[in-house]
Amino acid sequence: YVHNTKEMLEKARQEGYAVPAFNIHNLETLKVVVEAAEELKSPLILAATPGTMKYSGRDYIQAIAEVAAKNVSIPVALHLDHHEDIDSIKQSLVLGVKSVMIDGSHFTFDNNIKITSEVVKLAHQYGATVEGELGTLVGQEDDLIVEAEDAAYTNPDLAKEYVQKTNIDSFAMAIGTGHGLYKTKPNLDFDRLEKIKNLVSIPLVLHGASGISAEDVRRCISLGCAKVNIATELKIPFAENLREYLQNHPNESDPRKYMKGAKEKMKEVVKEKILICMSDGKA
Ligand code: 13P
Ligand code: ZN
Ligand code: NA
Repeated sequence: YVHNTKEMLEKARQEGYAVPAFNIHNLETLKVVVEAAEELKSPLILAATPGTMKYSGRDYIQAIAEVAAKNVSIPVALHLDHHEDIDSIKQSLVLGVKSVMIDGSHFTFDNNIKITSEVVKLAHQYGATVEGELGTLVGQEDDLIVEAEDAAYTNPDLAKEYVQKTNIDSFAMAIGTGHGLYKTKPNLDFDRLEKIKNLVSIPLVLHGASGISAEDVRRCISLGCAKVNIATELKIPFAENLREYLQNHPNESDPRKYMKGAKEKMKEVVKEKILICMSDGKA
């Protein structure tokens, strides 16, 4: 039942909105995101990092996503976020995943092309689509830590070459966003994004959207970003509410009760993000 992201993202790029990709970790967070998207009739991408797969289990995440996709009217994709290892990608393809990110952005240009092309050939055999990345983001996404001095903005001409040589379906670039929240206001390079948009015709992917203003996200969407990745800004309200609830109810031990408010708070943020992406009503 889970979709690949080809039609979803091409429609979004054509019509000038973005499909939100929300990082989920377990049954609770997956269901929150699915319910919010269903209520707003938004197409949806569930994103799972290798760390999440290790925590919850690749087969469990796949199974929950399949049930969710079957039970709702909106298109739902399960997407492998920031995967680096071909064997684990293969495991998920066999389980039925239809959307894959191969993150070879920390390799040299030639090696990035090599590993990305290899994943594209494999994934396309399974009817899955592939997101590739060129240029690196600062911050931490699970176990992947990139220091500021190692981050590099994407070169538009190399972006064009990378997309042509790898045959990827969507393209993640570095234009000044980073994973997590920002210590100082991020400076997004919109001119660079516009150049990339004009050279690359496939849907573009904005990573690190937590901490980016609604206005800046919308501007990125108008410049070709058809997928917007959001992780940190969903984790915070969940954890804050849970912390507060348990502090105020020290004798509560029922997860069905103590996670209720946390899920509601997270759901509010999911809905806000869907509205920023303008994907409501697009399912
Ligand atoms: P944020 O945590 O900044 O939202 O980044 C999410 C992301 O890019 C996931 O791939
Ligand atoms: Zn990311
Ligand atoms: Na961010």
